[in-house]
Amino acid sequence: MPVRSYIFDAYGTLFDVHAAIARHRDRAGPDAERISDLWRTKQLEYSWTLTSMGRYENFERLTERALDFALTRFGKSDAALRADLLASYQKLDAYADAKETLGLLKKDGFTTGILSNGSPGMLHAAVKNAGLDDMLDHVLSVDSLGFYKPRNEVYALVTKALSTQPGEIVFVSSNRWDIAGAASFGFKPVWINRSKMPDEYPDLKPVAVIDTLAALPALKL
Ligand code: 2OP
Repeated sequence: MPVRSYIFDAYGTLFDVHAAIARHRDRAGPDAERISDLWRTKQLEYSWTLTSMGRYENFERLTERALDFALTRFGKSDAALRADLLASYQKLDAYADAKETLGLLKKDGFTTGILSNGSPGMLHAAVKNAGLDDMLDHVLSVDSLGFYKPRNEVYALVTKALSTQPGEIVFVSSNRWDIAGAASFGFKPVWINRSKMPDEYPDLKPVAVIDTLAALPALKL
């Protein structure tokens, strides 16, 4: 089936989730990287556990709770640091090659978009801050469904919004579990493995593995 659209995960794929801590590294102290890793781990854990229970809180709330856990775990009770980290999370840096890659894909005639756990407000702020507004035809949030990836219905938001078949969509994510969900749904998944992680989910494979977004257009999927 010919590919008509490239859809991207947001956090970790187009936007660097560790950019928030990086902006306040001195105040976060020597545990800065560990705080950031635990913040991300807990943010995702909460999305999976609530979804399994059939409950929902939006991603903004889960991001706040995950940060509270990580700061408390590392003995940081600085309310100003907490506020600044959450404000930075609303304006995460996009990866350096995100804008150019999206521009090339659009020039090649593809539809582009985001499919993310992020709440609509978070995504709007991140896309605007990164100057990606005119590079994305669709920005889709799970919020309208009230549960998170990797539920099939989340990926179906894309086929519904674009009126396409799953096989016509390339789905790009840095999160290997998200790639597994996309493969399970029937997308053509491309895993962006910047940190050279070992592979997982052997039955739910990507069609390609790259380590920069810039490598995407040349794949000619
Ligand atoms: C996203 O949905 C998984 O956090 C990642 O943007």
